[in-house]
Amino acid sequence: MQASAPGKFILFGEHAVVYGHPAVALAVDLRLSASFEPGGEPRLDGDAEAAVDNPYVEHAMSQAPETGDVRVESEIPRAVGLGSSAALCVALAGAMFDVDDEAGIAERAFELEHGAQGKGSPIDTSTATHGSGVVVAPDRQEDHLWSLSAGDETWHVHDVDVPDLSFVVGDTGVTRRTGRLVTEVAVRTTADPAARQAMEAIGQITRRGMEALADGDAVRIGNLMDQNQKMLARIGVNTDELQSLIEAARPHAFGAKLTGAGGGGSMIALTEDPEACAAAIEEAGGTPYVVSTTETGVILG
Ligand code: MEV
Repeated sequence: MQASAPGKFILFGEHAVVYGHPAVALAVDLRLSASFEPGGEPRLDGDAEAAVDNPYVEHAMSQAPETGDVRVESEIPRAVGLGSSAALCVALAGAMFDVDDEAGIAERAFELEHGAQGKGSPIDTSTATHGSGVVVAPDRQEDHLWSLSAGDETWHVHDVDVPDLSFVVGDTGVTRRTGRLVTEVAVRTTADPAARQAMEAIGQITRRGMEALADGDAVRIGNLMDQNQKMLARIGVNTDELQSLIEAARPHAFGAKLTGAGGGGSMIALTEDPEACAAAIEEAGGTPYVVSTTETGVILG
């Protein structure tokens, strides 16, 4: 069996989504595909050690009806906030498990990600499953797709229309682990009331961002991205490298912010001039990716 899934970036609401606030993510047209050949010990690209070293493959092999060889091909740069792990979980769910509908794949992929990371929300895996745009919210709204739970939290996942917008991602080259960042933020949020207030503010910014997205209003979306970035800095996930790429991109953009877990990884800019924005990011020491959003989610076979 074979399955492929797109990358994604978070437009609004990362981290706050773990604490019951809404978040918005968009799928991008870079894809990862996995094929599975059942039989024999667990292997990744023919290598038994690699299968143990990859937490997602390792966890999938422990849950799947059969072990065997997984082969992975990817256009999504790894560990930069573009959703390569989520796309891997979705592709593994489609290739190794007996599920063929989006809701079933999203559930299995979230279980694989959560089982390997031990924390986090279903926003990344649901976006890699559905494609297009996804809103994850604490309450069930219009355009509901599915609901997923872990521990005491339940997330309701919704489809969102994505207007025609241009984005540039800037990778700092600093790799980080989402699970560790989520744990660090949990410690800070427990200890610091200002961090908790910042989470609330991110929730409000995201709600306004959803309206701006529905109106296709790039100026308002950009302004809200800037506000979201300030709050992310307040919860301690911004870095000097991210800030310098954001500042470099900003004169060519409606708005810019870090995307994903932060602590390294990538920033994202909404722009009318992707070439100028990408050149400025490169000049500031980052690796730019001009990304297009996509409606295409998981593809089986
Ligand atoms: C990571 O892409 C997004 C976080 O909000 C974690 C999660 O929601 O699982 C930081």
